[in-house]
Amino acid sequence: MSPTSELEHRLALDENPYGPLPSVRAALRGAMVATNRYPEYLPRRLPALIAERLGVPPEQVVVGEGATGVIRYILREFVTPDDGVVMATPTFDGYPALTGNVGGRAVEVPLTADGRQDLDAMRDAIDARTRVVVLCSPHNPTGTCIGQGDLADFLDRIDPSVTVVLDEAYIDFVARADRVATADLLTRYPNLVVTRTFSKAYGLATPRVGYAIGAVPMIARIRRWQLPFGVTAPAETGVRACYSAEAELAVRTAAITRECGRLTEGLRELGFTVPTSAANFVYLTACGATEIDRLRTAFVRSGIRAKHCGSGIRITVGNAAATDAVLAASC
Ligand SMILES: Cc1ncc(COP(=O)(O)O)c(C=O)c1O
Repeated sequence: MSPTSELEHRLALDENPYGPLPSVRAALRGAMVATNRYPEYLPRRLPALIAERLGVPPEQVVVGEGATGVIRYILREFVTPDDGVVMATPTFDGYPALTGNVGGRAVEVPLTADGRQDLDAMRDAIDARTRVVVLCSPHNPTGTCIGQGDLADFLDRIDPSVTVVLDEAYIDFVARADRVATADLLTRYPNLVVTRTFSKAYGLATPRVGYAIGAVPMIARIRRWQLPFGVTAPAETGVRACYSAEAELAVRTAAITRECGRLTEGLRELGFTVPTSAANFVYLTACGATEIDRLRTAFVRSGIRAKHCGSGIRITVGNAAATDAVLAASC
């Protein structure tokens, strides 16, 4: 198991540092043989495959061009011009951008000082024009999670006409014991929709494939926006091959999690404030402007690409050499 070689350390997009497993690579090569053929008009096989894996009916799953594609369908369905979408800030860039695409207003609620989404303030930000609230767990860029109790409490206290998106793009990095019982929550809250991606732990960022799970009526509404021929054969083949290689993928995920711990501890020893991350990135919080400039220069010199978000810097967990490079450049 060796990560893809890198002339520079690409640590800005929360990508998986490992290229496809040999079995996945072979399957993808096979999928590229018939590029003259269109994929399914609207995907049926892939949602059925994912649903079988999750133990839910296929009508509860919608797939799209990455989680980004699915999030766009959700916003297209629920948000009309000037409607509000409540989200934390900073968050995944896609949320404010896609909200703007559909003519909505991003209502941005600052994180708490320890890098958590401020659930009380987010609830207070909901008004009569709010159609969607976005929660991420783990959150991008901080890697913090929302516990089952806090999530249920939040859902209990908001108007059921507001759609709640629970973004679990990084859920495969979270220890099973620490994950919320998504299936139970989806049964109790028909206004909840959970989004996930194969771009991160599964390392399938190129074929662009993500999905959402929700109650049948919720998914039927979201599916109205699916792009004909939008989900490609390599996406379907890649997911199938990854599902057949879960054990090998788990070894890689565990290696990334260990490296995340080493990076976090190393940065803390250097005096940075770093929330404990359950994802494949860490966040240096509340860096002053001078410190950000110093790090930006040091990272560029060391060939490190990281992402500046708000008053902090998000650094993707790469291979061991990337961790060493980040720690050396941060001194
Ligand atoms: C929180 C979150 N949600 C969704 C996505 C979109 O992932 P993709 O479109 O690659 O599936 C990302 C990508 O970085 C993300 O960080």
